[in-house]
Amino acid sequence: MQLQPPRGTRDFFPDDMRLRSWIFAHWREVARLFAFEEYDAPVLESEEIYIRKAGEEITAQLYSFEDKGGRRVALRPEMTPSLARMVLQKGRSLALPIRWFSIPQCWRYERMTRGRKREHYQWNMDLFGVADVTAEAELLAAIATLFERLGLTPADVGIRVSSRKVLQGVMDDLGVPAERFAEACVLVDKLDKLPRETLVADLAALGLEPEQIERLLDTLSIKDLEQLAASVGEDDPAVVELRRLFRLVSDYGFGEWLCFDASIVRGLAYYTGVVFEAFDRGATLRAICGGGRYDHLLSTFGGKDIPACGFGFGDVVLVELLGDKGLLPELPPCVDDIVFAFAEELRPAACQVATKLRAAGRRVDLMLESKKVKAAFKHADRVGGRRMVLLAPDEWARGKVRVKNLETGAERDLSLEELLRAD
Ligand code: HAM
Repeated sequence: MQLQPPRGTRDFFPDDMRLRSWIFAHWREVARLFAFEEYDAPVLESEEIYIRKAGEEITAQLYSFEDKGGRRVALRPEMTPSLARMVLQKGRSLALPIRWFSIPQCWRYERMTRGRKREHYQWNMDLFGVADVTAEAELLAAIATLFERLGLTPADVGIRVSSRKVLQGVMDDLGVPAERFAEACVLVDKLDKLPRETLVADLAALGLEPEQIERLLDTLSIKDLEQLAASVGEDDPAVVELRRLFRLVSDYGFGEWLCFDASIVRGLAYYTGVVFEAFDRGATLRAICGGGRYDHLLSTFGGKDIPACGFGFGDVVLVELLGDKGLLPELPPCVDDIVFAFAEELRPAACQVATKLRAAGRRVDLMLESKKVKAAFKHADRVGGRRMVLLAPDEWARGKVRVKNLETGAERDLSLEELLRAD
């Protein structure tokens, strides 16, 4: 039997799990600081919620199958369609705006590269009901807050920001039909990943003339807002919106993390406005997180649109990044008390002591087998025990236990009350 998990998926042994829990705790804490509430949904969804026709990678990478009842289902590749479904389900009873977050496991049959696997955990923060870029600013502030908490600086990572309205403006000028817009975004997202000729050929297949393609690619190469304003005009909606967003993020004190980059469009069809992605300045990793505004997703599900924006932030690339920067924490196993009975007759007493310590909130490893005391110390060492609580006949007869602090080596006899209070 194959002992490894399926290719691209991970087992989480306790050592790995401590790291995963540490990351989740940071994600949850930042979400709490921004007053986001947690939600969840099933990992298995109807396939149809992921069927979009813009040629996105995510659709081609779907883990989908027919269940025993003949229904087409899929493992979620992302959380946004589930969230949209839940928002529509609540309908008018939902008091807007909502600030919701989740940490789903997502599945994509992806070509594996550094930081990309076939399953990953993805921190999502989404806001529904705010049409203004104040919402995007709040999300960008949350991302920067997380980076700071993890010890990262703007010298390590940055967040590239643009708006699909930049591309929209150029396409409108060029007379490209609106229904080709999502497809064009998905193509342009591959700018860095594909040879230029391939992209040019794909854009030509969308119906663009060579000069139009040149104009499009020229605009996409703009890397500062002044230049964009000079190119498309100061009162262009994208310029107005982006200027306001950059000002707001500076007001939060996070301006240093942002840079404008017109080539950012993101590869998901549903984004409609501001889009962003965090990147490592060493340029060795793929996007650390990505998100944007998607004001029209609900109507594609047959509902009434509500303005929305959000981001997804994966665990895999984050671990790679923190490893590169020497910022991964040491998280040894840790137990407060090892409780050990010298003789089997003292097991009832040991159980009683363990229960009292646990009721006091201490992590207790009660030795379950009759072993020599040497084995108990070896065990304590392995599991990161901080105190050894020994039950010996004479001491117990006097209502005491022997306690050894395993960090200092100090030993003393304590009553049960003293034991609960002492460190
Ligand atoms: P996405 O850009 O497809 O967006 O993914 C967001 C993040 O998830 C990526 O930047 C990366 O950190 C992580 N990620 C994606 N695929 C993989 C993979 N195969 N292996 C490891 N990590 C991965 C979305 O999924 C949108 N639904 C995000 C969103 C939420 N937009 C609005 N709200």
